[in-house]
Amino acid sequence: MAAEGNKLWGGRFTGTTDPIMESLNASITYDQRLYEFDIQGSMAYAKALEKAGILTKTDLEKILSGLEKISEEWSKGTFVVKKSDEDIHTANERRLKELIGDIAGKLHTGRSRNDQVVTDLKLFMKNSLSVISTHLLQLVKALVERAAAEMDIIFPGYTHLQKAQPIRWSQFLLSHAFALMRDSERLGEVKRRINVLPLGSGALAGNPLGIDRELLRSELDFASITFNSMDAVSERDFVVEFLSMATLMMIHLSKMAEDLIIYSTSEFGFLTFSDAYSTGSSLMPQKKNPDSMELIRSKAGRVFGRLSAMLMVLKGLPSTYNKDLQEDKEAVFDVVDTLNAVLQVATGVISTLQIHKENMEKALSPEMLSTDLALYLVRKGMPFRQAHNASGKAVRLAESKGVTLNNLSQDDLKTISPLFGSDVSQVFNMVNSVEQYTAMGGTAKSSVTAQIEQLRELMKRHKE
Ligand code: ARG
Repeated sequence: MAAEGNKLWGGRFTGTTDPIMESLNASITYDQRLYEFDIQGSMAYAKALEKAGILTKTDLEKILSGLEKISEEWSKGTFVVKKSDEDIHTANERRLKELIGDIAGKLHTGRSRNDQVVTDLKLFMKNSLSVISTHLLQLVKALVERAAAEMDIIFPGYTHLQKAQPIRWSQFLLSHAFALMRDSERLGEVKRRINVLPLGSGALAGNPLGIDRELLRSELDFASITFNSMDAVSERDFVVEFLSMATLMMIHLSKMAEDLIIYSTSEFGFLTFSDAYSTGSSLMPQKKNPDSMELIRSKAGRVFGRLSAMLMVLKGLPSTYNKDLQEDKEAVFDVVDTLNAVLQVATGVISTLQIHKENMEKALSPEMLSTDLALYLVRKGMPFRQAHNASGKAVRLAESKGVTLNNLSQDDLKTISPLFGSDVSQVFNMVNSVEQYTAMGGTAKSSVTAQIEQLRELMKRHKE
């Protein structure tokens, strides 16, 4: 059992800790990932202590160079974690004492691990969210580039997974890009709310040493400081917001994955995934499985699990810091890693997909133009309800005659409505069909081009 003397809180204890309790309590195995942010936070805090007259200039120099040395050890992989290092804060302070002696003990004056850990986590997240944002914008870019390059490909659009109306392939790609762009916007907002510094809140009551929190803020590059110490040490809204944003993003990616999986089946045959993102079967030699997409779909469940776990941890907690909050870090780390991996794989998949134009076009059946047939009558003055009915009759007539809708004769159509003229043949043209949808948001070329411009503009703005 560990000697209580090594613990940051050992003073009031005489007994020893149950070893299983000790390992349940310890977070060092995963929170060591915060080492550089913990050191940044400590450096800033040491400077503020010097300004408040708690540290001399020499103390400060010693502490800063000790912390620098520790940072180096971590980055080189030479830092030795001891059994008694409960968490990253304990480990760094223990090492600082080994390196510079008792002056190390001055660093924690007026600080608590409660304001320290939430500061570390926010610093970590500020950093990680920027990386995620870059990967997300890369994916949007891949979708937009393809949409611009493959504008002329028309294929079936589905509702209820039933063939509905012809659309441009680009319209499909961009539908996913717009969803991801909203995620990018949400990500920016989460980042903005993370950007409030809690350091200087102490355990719960604030800082009694007149610490200059403005100095801490500018040293650690936060936009502002928290206003209430009790709220600052306990709120994990930013964690919940991040996990919610991540869940929605994963749901969007899962939808895209599912679409692409369906389109890749031999029944559809619209596309083939590149070998880099597929795997084979150990039993069936002919198989090429879309594992990348299936993994993305499943990770949506994993990320949502992290969100719901975090919400359950928070529910019913009393005010200020409680050890339950230690659970926040694994959730954040896991979701950061998942998003980074998934976004990069999705970008790879999208930019290497091979599409089969002939199969897409073959899948367009004339019946998908029955709405257009109704619109033809509308343009000749018939009210839409009546036109819908007339077009339905034409579909039925074609079925009973065993021909496709476009192969009904002029005379056949005339029996349904005298408004049908010889120009009706123009209806049965897929390009003409999609080109009707010129209103903003539609699948006509002009609208798809405007969507691409809009996304390019948003990408530029989100990069800033
Ligand atoms: N390892 C702890 C965490 O992750 C650090 C804060 C501990 N604070 C305390 N009062 N025990 O939340």
